Amino acid sequence: MKPTILIVDDERNTREGLARALRRQYRILLAESAMAALEVLKTESPEAVLTDLRMPGMDGMTLVKRILASEPKPVCILLTAYGNVETAVEAMKCGAYDFLTKPVNLDRLEVLLKRAINTRKLEESNRQLHQQLDSKYGMEQIIGTSSVMQSVFDTIRQVAPSRATVLIQGESGTGKELVAHAVHRLSPRADNPFIAVHCAALADTLLESELFGHERGAFTGATETRKGRFELADGGTLFLDEIGEIEPATQVKLLRVLEERNFERVGGMQKIEVDPRLLAATNRDLRQMVEEGRFREDLFFRLNVVQVTLPPLRRRREDIPMLLHHFLKEFREENAKELDGFTAEALDSLTQYAWPGNIRELRNVMERMVVLSRGDKLSLRDVPLEIKEGKAPAASSGSLKGATSMQEAEKKMIMQALSDNRSNRTRAAEQLGISRRTLHRKLHEFQLEEY
Ligand SMILES: Nc1ncnc2c1ncn2[C@@H]1O[C@H](COP(=O)(O)OP(=O)(O)OP(=O)(O)O)[C@@H](O)[C@H]1O
Ligand SMILES: [Mg+2]
Repeated sequence: MKPTILIVDDERNTREGLARALRRQYRILLAESAMAALEVLKTESPEAVLTDLRMPGMDGMTLVKRILASEPKPVCILLTAYGNVETAVEAMKCGAYDFLTKPVNLDRLEVLLKRAINTRKLEESNRQLHQQLDSKYGMEQIIGTSSVMQSVFDTIRQVAPSRATVLIQGESGTGKELVAHAVHRLSPRADNPFIAVHCAALADTLLESELFGHERGAFTGATETRKGRFELADGGTLFLDEIGEIEPATQVKLLRVLEERNFERVGGMQKIEVDPRLLAATNRDLRQMVEEGRFREDLFFRLNVVQVTLPPLRRRREDIPMLLHHFLKEFREENAKELDGFTAEALDSLTQYAWPGNIRELRNVMERMVVLSRGDKLSLRDVPLEIKEGKAPAASSGSLKGATSMQEAEKKMIMQALSDNRSNRTRAAEQLGISRRTLHRKLHEFQLEEY
């Protein structure tokens, strides 16, 4: 389809001359005054507007300002008599794309239009990309109407614009990474990089060179100088995920960077200044780790400037139905299934469940249910067995103080049952209300076989 161009000029000859020259490549709209142009723009959205500067009534400059004040914004090019170049420059400061002096050199005009329309397309796709990113990582994607989640949203909104370090705490699968992305997206650094480091995934020495980079020859295999994540996140956001897993030696180095805002690459001498905004996440109880001497207190205080704590799903059950519907919609579309919600029994069973793996588990379960579903509603038949059977832990889990995750709670319960029953597995399983086989599997999973 040909791009559309609106030509605005009070002189009929100019209008028609330009129209004739451009008609082959463009769809042309004409207006004889600025007011007429605005009228046309109510129903048309041309890619470009070509307007005379001096016209009776509203002049070209005012027209351009008016056009650029609302969406969608076409590229505006001004046509001006030689003596009015200054005004045209003025118009460019207001957002006009360029100007041409009259009489118009048609070759120049064509080149200019082509370039202008390309630029506009690029800008447009950039904007769309941003919107997609926003909707992917902005707060819209964090579901939750519970009051605890509302206060999480408030905190995010409050701290996002600042440079403050945020410590995001919560059990596995509660949405810590999602929150980190939202803080970045809502910050003035949104257009700069968001760099994530999964601290637990890297051995200690690797983590250091990952964070700080290394000079060529710093260690065997360092054949090139490499920038670390701190450098890559300069001006943006550095997200240190699973911060509770880093070794004391790295904790010291990290603290130093946070205090001095500079560091050296591994094997390097030169100080490198950086300005990343730091976010950290953990599913551990860092304060307790500090008490146990496993995490440096001074580093903890540096990180814990603002705290966002994501409650486990079992403490905000009112969010469950909304999450279920949200993921139903997502996977229904992805799998092109015609599914009209849940039966009451299914919804009940899913809402009662304890969700030890939190939202990640809920999301995975929903995906499985949607993919495997056969009816036109998700019914109890579609609900996985372990969920239908696992209603009980919901209430009891709250009483286990100090357990940082459901898994740890479970591990404690198993250890307790084994010691109550002097390691007699059959009786321990009975006490726990699970089969001997399940107990065996759990012992393996928690590496308690020797217990
Ligand atoms: N409130 C929420 N609304 C919608 N989706 C959510 C929400 N919280 C988490 N999710 C989704 O659940 C999954 C797990 O979230 P995320 O990776 O952020 O958890 P996490 O706390 O970082 O977990 P882990 O400690 O295991 O790394 C992701 O797919 C995420 O999009
Ligand atoms: Mg995570």
